[in-house]
Formats: sequence, C-alpha cells, structure tokens
Amino acid sequence: MLAPPDLLRVVHSVFIDRETLLHDYVPAKLPHRERELKRLKHYFEPVISGEAASVKVHLVGGVGTGKTLLCRKVGGIVARESGGRVKFAYVNLAYAHRPYHAMAEVHRQVLGVPAAGLSPEEMLRNILDYLVAEDASLLVALDEVDAYIAEGRSQRILYMLPRAYELEPKAAGRISLIYASRSLDWLKRLDEATLDTIGRTSAIHLSAYGFEQVRDIVAYRAELAFKPGALDEELIDFVAQISMPYGGVRYALELLLEAGTLADYEGSKSVRAGHVRSAHASIPKGANGALCPEELSLHKQALLKAIYDALNAYGSAYLPVEEAYSLYKVVCEQLNVEPEGEEEARAHIEALSRDGYIMLRAGAIAVEYPYERTLQIIERLLKKAKIYEPKP
Ligand SMILES: Nc1ncnc2c1ncn2[C@@H]1O[C@H](COP(=O)(O)OP(=O)(O)OP(=O)(O)O)[C@@H](O)[C@H]1O
Ligand SMILES: [Mg+2]
Repeated sequence: MLAPPDLLRVVHSVFIDRETLLHDYVPAKLPHRERELKRLKHYFEPVISGEAASVKVHLVGGVGTGKTLLCRKVGGIVARESGGRVKFAYVNLAYAHRPYHAMAEVHRQVLGVPAAGLSPEEMLRNILDYLVAEDASLLVALDEVDAYIAEGRSQRILYMLPRAYELEPKAAGRISLIYASRSLDWLKRLDEATLDTIGRTSAIHLSAYGFEQVRDIVAYRAELAFKPGALDEELIDFVAQISMPYGGVRYALELLLEAGTLADYEGSKSVRAGHVRSAHASIPKGANGALCPEELSLHKQALLKAIYDALNAYGSAYLPVEEAYSLYKVVCEQLNVEPEGEEEARAHIEALSRDGYIMLRAGAIAVEYPYERTLQIIERLLKKAKIYEPKP
C-alpha cells in the first residue's frame, strides 16, 4: 500500500509531464532559437535531399545557450525529413575520453549493436559498409569538442570521421558533422593535418539569453510540464529572475522541477512562491548555475563518487587529495575504465573546484552542500555508462 504522501503525489500531481523538464528532453519548439535552427537545418538541406555532400558546421555558444538541444533537434529533423536515409548520432565527447569510445558510441547508435573489441578503424569500416550497403548517410554531432581537446585527448577522432572516404572511397560524401563548443579557441590546439581536415567550416554563434528570453523559454517549458493553473503566471517571472545569475534556463528548469516536486509532496494543488524559495535554497549551486553532474566527464563523475563515498564513510569535513585519488582508482576498477594519471586527476579536481562541486584547501577536499542527491544521480549515470574497452 502507498504511504499517504505518495498517494497524494499520485492523485494531486501539479505535473502533466515532469519529464519535459529533464535536461535531455527535446521539446517540440525552441523559442528564441528558431532562426538558428533554420540556419543550421539549411546547411544540411543537400544531405536531406540525398546529394553526396559532407557538410560541416560549428555551433558555438556559452554555457546553457542551447547547443546540445540544437544538435539533438536538428539531428532529429534531418533524419526524419530524409525519410530515415540520414542516420543521426550524438556523441558527447566529455564522456568519450578516447577516439575508441566516441567511435563505439557512433557504432552503437548507427548499427544498434555495441562494438566490443574492435579498433576505431574497424568500427568505422563497419559503419561505412553499412552506409554504402543501405545507400544511407550519417550526421554526427560532436558535442563539447572544446572540452575534449582542452583535456589533451587524442585528435584522431576529428581526423577519422571527415576523412572516412580514405578508408572507403565509396563512402565519400556520406558523413556530415556538427562541432559544438563554447568557443572556437580549441581549433588553435589542433595539429596541422587535423585543422586542415576540419577546414573552413561555417559557424553559427549563439548569443546568451537575456531575461525576456529566459522568461519566454521558462513559460513554454512550464506549459509542457504543469497542469493548467498549477503554476501562477507571476511565478514564471520569479523563476526566470532568480535563475539569471545561476545560468539561466538550465537552473530555471531545475527550479521548476524541484518546486513542483515539493508542491506534490505537500499535496498542494499548485506551485506557490514558497515552494520556489525552498527549492532555490535546496539546490546546490556551482560556478555556472545549478550543479549538473549529467554534464561532467566520466572521470570527473568517478572522482566525485569517490569523494562523496569517502566523506560519507568517514563522516569528516575534509578528505586528503591523495586519498581521493586512490579511491577514484577503485571506482575506475569497478567501472572497468582505465584511471587517469595522478596529474590529470589533479587537473580534474581543480576544475571541479572551479565549477563549485568541491572546495580545496591545503591539499584537502571539502564539499559545502548536502550531496546525497548528486551522489544518487552520479551513481545512476555511472551505471548507465557502458564502457567498451578494446581488448589488448
Ligand atoms: N530555446 C530553448 N527552448 C527551450 N529550452 C531551451 C532552449 N534553450 C535552452 N533550453 C534548455 O536549457 C538547458 C540548457 O541548454 P543546452 O543544454 O542545450 O545548453 P548548452 O549550450 O549545450 O550548454 P553547455 O555549454 O553547458 O553544454 C537545456 O535543458 C535545454 O533544454
Ligand atoms: Mg551542452
């Protein structure tokens, strides 16, 4: 039997569809990005209409400007409007820390099966054989390519995909790419051959959303998520205003989800200002708004899990960095992932501190917020992340 609060939650939910507030949901409309979406789609018209064309586009914009959403949206449109002839693969390079993982992700998304034990070239060969046999094309969105390059990862993936025709001449004109990044500075770090391959690529720049735009987007997302009348008009402004210093739309969506959940928990028929205030107070904030562990690389997630687990186990405020590193190696072992070297791990720890996930002082790590919820999210993500390591 359901406990009373759960029963209330089911009967009186303020939500029609809370999933529409989740970070990877792709809504039907993109208010204030229609023009950019149209432009992006326009570049891929030749691909949609079946021409042999390798189109490459940069999508550039600051934190939370809708790059990931636009990638997914345009990928869905191109696949649909081509009648399924164009396949779409989305790869977040923050997770794919080697060309192997990035290519395995493309392999899985295109062929529907994992590619355990194959080399990146063998995987690409499989993909190309499939595209040629089916007379199909492929659009790959490489998201967070700047973070990947900044971490000094292998540039081979950037070289292999656009030059696939060298592996299989019949595949010429079948692979198109979107490179999503926060700025184009990563191009400066490329070696000459890779830079040459990316070539003169068109770029779409996304400007930061202002208050009015955040407000409109929040209003639209709230309309999808809440029952009519469950969220007062005034609260849209309130949520948008609170969210501006914390990263805008992303924080606003988190706030709506949390406020709605609180309202449901209390059995309230609508979300009230008090729910928004409590939700705002309870969400841990990082340098770029709400902490969003979904968007951290696999190694940063593994480090955080090690840190949270250790702080839980010791019940202490501080954890020495060396200890965090040893425990992180254990987490990696459980994940079947090769751990990063100590220097790289330290760089990740510093980045986590800059982003507000942890505090660093005199070689020790502390966490200033209640982290149970963040730990749960990370455990779920790590469980989902399937790591296919190449066989030695
Ligand atoms: N125009 C829009 N309409 C509806 N939702 C939007 C719009 N722009 C952004 N969002 C939402 O805001 C959040 C942030 O957008 P997104 O993740 O695409 O940003 P990003 O540019 O990829 O940021 P980052 O650089 O941090 O990865 C997402 O939840 C997304 O669904
Ligand atoms: Mg993104």
